[in-house]
Amino acid sequence: MTTTLNINGKDVRVDADESTPILWALRDTLGMTGTKFGCGAALCGACTVHMNGAAIRSCVTPISAAVGQKITTIEALETDRVGKAVHQAWVKADVAQCGYCQSGQIMSATALLKANKKPSDADIDAAMAGNICRCGTYARVRIAIKDAARTLA
Ligand code: FES
Ligand code: FES
Repeated sequence: MTTTLNINGKDVRVDADESTPILWALRDTLGMTGTKFGCGAALCGACTVHMNGAAIRSCVTPISAAVGQKITTIEALETDRVGKAVHQAWVKADVAQCGYCQSGQIMSATALLKANKKPSDADIDAAMAGNICRCGTYARVRIAIKDAARTLA
């Protein structure tokens, strides 16, 4: 079955069962590998993308739920004012270690700053709690989010 999804501002056709997770459509069907597979069970946040600007777990969200919605992935973040500021803050703070979780971290951070221009430590902890980093980059993630918030103020 063919489903039309709006991804990064473009309508794309995905030939897959409607129960297919968005993550598989992105990575396997569309070859967009910036979004990572971690747990496949909404536990780690590696697969985070935006649906209408809000962070979602693409590993457990079927493509049927994305029809008529706007999906944004890490590949388009540089074209977004907030996403670009987050990306730049990430580089400046040298956040990434192995890098595997970082696409999801950046997507969650960007969704946070779109909803809350001046997040407190508690806001950051709450928004980022679902993004697990086996390398333990959490302190630098917080530094980068605060830096991006200052840049955007
Ligand atoms: S891969 Fe989706 S939350 Fe872990
Ligand atoms: S940077 Fe390695 S898992 Fe987060």
